[in-house]
Amino acid sequence: MRVRARGVEKRFGATVALGGVDLDVAGEVGVLALIGPSGGGKSTLLRVLGGLEVPDAGEVEVDGVRVDYRSEAALLEYRRRNGFLFQSFNLFPHMSALRNITLPLVKVHGLGAGEAEGKARECLARFGLADHADKMPAQLSGGQQQRAAIARAIAPGPGLLFLDEPTSALDPEMTGEVLDLIAELKEGGQEIVLSTHEMGFAREVADEVAFLAEGQIVERRPAADLFGAPEDARLKAFLGRVMRY
Ligand SMILES: Nc1ncnc2c1ncn2[C@@H]1O[C@H](COP(=O)(O)OP(=O)(O)O)[C@@H](O)[C@H]1O
Ligand SMILES: [Mg+2]
Repeated sequence: MRVRARGVEKRFGATVALGGVDLDVAGEVGVLALIGPSGGGKSTLLRVLGGLEVPDAGEVEVDGVRVDYRSEAALLEYRRRNGFLFQSFNLFPHMSALRNITLPLVKVHGLGAGEAEGKARECLARFGLADHADKMPAQLSGGQQQRAAIARAIAPGPGLLFLDEPTSALDPEMTGEVLDLIAELKEGGQEIVLSTHEMGFAREVADEVAFLAEGQIVERRPAADLFGAPEDARLKAFLGRVMRY
């Protein structure tokens, strides 16, 4: 992936969510993981990079093209090229798994009904959900719901897939299910930027890991280096806390 950020700032009232983020990712990076304490700015950075949030200052470039945050039309078009999944389940509760996937394909991406259904069924099958196409979200387990939500996010063939703590609402078994799926997407060539509290997963699957604290990227290195030999004191303290048990 090629993602470049320069001096990205975002405030919410008096809160500085991002205080000047610089990021340069290029080359063989399939998965970039954001880790760090709660409130550090991970979700805000994902939203800015994905075009869901307009920064107060700074620049973002993806694949060498600058994201134009000032043009509503350009931003909409940019957003459409990305896929998103947030920490809580985001399926529409009153629609079947299948319809959850076909609806945006038709409404947002302009596919015909038949083509959308074909694509949706293909995605559901790929994620082991072929038999659950007609179920409502409440009839699916948490892990299945999250897999269906990921199927929906990747059905349009997004350039970048943004996942914000995709397993934080899941029990350990379902977490494993969803993490396996993410690793599989990576194997299939999907480029992914995600935030996670699953340090074992970040170490195993991410190519690069960025540690965010207080609205800054404090340290960013290949996963093995960042976990194997953390340098920044705040990162060491964080890893000491979250990897103690
Ligand atoms: N929509 C919002 N309105 C007000 N404050 C927000 C909003 N989104 C994020 N913040 C604040 O910005 C900071 C960074 O939040 P966030 O990006 O959610 O961090 P993280 O995902 O690392 O927990 C926090 O202090 C949070 O309370
Ligand atoms: Mg968050």
